[in-house]
Amino acid sequence: MGILDGKVAVITGAGSGMGKAAARIFAQEGARLVISDVSGAEEQTAKEIGGNVVVRHCDVSDESQVEALVAAAVSTYGRIDAMLNVAGIGVGGMLLTLEQADLDRIYNVNFKGVFFGSKHAARAMKDTGGGTITNWASLAGIIPAPGTIGYGTMKAGVIHLTKAIAVEHGPSNIRANAICPGVITTEGMGAASAAKTPDKASRNPLGRAGTPEDAADLAAFLSSDKATYLNGVIIPLDGGWSCKLA
Ligand SMILES: NC(=O)c1ccc[n+]([C@@H]2O[C@H](COP(=O)([O-])OP(=O)(O)OC[C@H]3O[C@@H](n4cnc5c(N)ncnc54)[C@H](O)[C@@H]3O)[C@@H](O)[C@H]2O)c1
Repeated sequence: MGILDGKVAVITGAGSGMGKAAARIFAQEGARLVISDVSGAEEQTAKEIGGNVVVRHCDVSDESQVEALVAAAVSTYGRIDAMLNVAGIGVGGMLLTLEQADLDRIYNVNFKGVFFGSKHAARAMKDTGGGTITNWASLAGIIPAPGTIGYGTMKAGVIHLTKAIAVEHGPSNIRANAICPGVITTEGMGAASAAKTPDKASRNPLGRAGTPEDAADLAAFLSSDKATYLNGVIIPLDGGWSCKLA
């Protein structure tokens, strides 16, 4: 028996890092999955999980592709219970130097991608009695850090979006919550950040980076019936880093 037995989950960014770990852990917990990525690596994730997983190529910045992704879950399984908007890109830059093209890129993937995933999932969930939306924001969306002005602002947008969904769609039994990773060791963004600032991973009170499974386990809990009164919660997943002044 898993905590997600029988639930249908859709995951974006499932080719790497936290999305990939979520796919593995959701499968272990009994969920039926539709996994996606823009990179092609979602096929490898599906192979590693084994079993019956629907795989879709999906660029989350394109609304029609996200709509088709959710439609694939509904046509295959008749419903969607959990939407995990994990896909994201890391783009650094300061106020005086961040170019419009980079700002557009982060807006399109990190904000609009989450918006589209939430919108189409909520539409489908309303027809079947509710569900959960878990959005990947960032600690940088709560506390600014130099060099993350565009990225952090979009993640702050994801935090507000998540609270707004919780308020708008709580009455339809749709719960929306956000995970705000601090430093998580992943193949993609985590590795890039570690290469740039190696000591960042140990600045938190636990003195270590988080793992993709830390995020995946939290998402599994939030998506399960063990969390039925959690709605609009913004959770730092940071080893206590955000509690420190320095
Ligand atoms: N790793 C960290 O320390 C950290 C910290 C704070 C927030 N986050 C956030 O957590 C999420 C996952 O991060 P990660 O470290 O696992 O990243 P990752 O780079 O390992 O994986 C991200 C995945 O998203 C996919 N992706 C990128 N653009 C996409 C698009 N347009 N459409 C669909 N998929 C796309 C990539 O192909 C990749 O497979 C991201 O939203 C990221 O911003 C990560």
